[in-house]
Amino acid sequence: MNRLHDSLCRSARWRKTIQQRVPWVLSGADLGQNVLELGPGPGLTTDLLRLRVRRITAIEVDSKLAESLSARLGGSNVEVVTGDATAMPFSDAQFSGGVSFTMIHHVPSPELQDKLLREVWRVLEPGGVFVGSDSRQSLLMRLIHIGDTLVPVDPDTFGVRLEAAGFEVVELEKNSDAFRFHARRPIAQL
Ligand SMILES: C[S@@+](CC[C@H](N)C(=O)[O-])C[C@H]1O[C@@H](n2cnc3c(N)ncnc32)[C@H](O)[C@@H]1O
Repeated sequence: MNRLHDSLCRSARWRKTIQQRVPWVLSGADLGQNVLELGPGPGLTTDLLRLRVRRITAIEVDSKLAESLSARLGGSNVEVVTGDATAMPFSDAQFSGGVSFTMIHHVPSPELQDKLLREVWRVLEPGGVFVGSDSRQSLLMRLIHIGDTLVPVDPDTFGVRLEAAGFEVVELEKNSDAFRFHARRPIAQL
């Protein structure tokens, strides 16, 4: 992330946004007790998520962010792993649920985003739920991302992409700023 974006992700304004967005995304989802978070950044989303589940493993590609979050949440129910969510160092079917808040647009191509979806499918147990949200395209989004990665995720095609990765799409809802999704790794593949 560029410096402006990094400071926005730590700001009181963003905290206020995610205090609404995280419950919106998690509403109605049973993630189980062993949850994977993709791209926690400074961890404002992790702070809310960790109150709801027994154990979180958060994978963050930026080693500085990963190290500072790991130091901040040391001894808690969160383990932070430095790594790339498109090629995760986790076993098949390791997690009961997965979450992604405002990170997929940071993955630098649609192909890598689709690889990430296949990776989440692989590390979720059959029946495991994957939920998340991403921001919609806007002038503000483009300004925040000057000098940074922005590969917008179109909510109108995201369901098809989740299905291509093997998920059943349970729900996809959009508002003017963001969209959320609920998907599930089917218990048995045909
Ligand atoms: C905009 S921040 C969102 C942070 C947090 N989820 C939130 O909503 O406040 C996106 C984060 O995803 C991380 N990220 C981007 N690509 C990633 C990848 N391939 N694997 C893991 N993390 C990644 C970035 O380093 C950044 O910390």
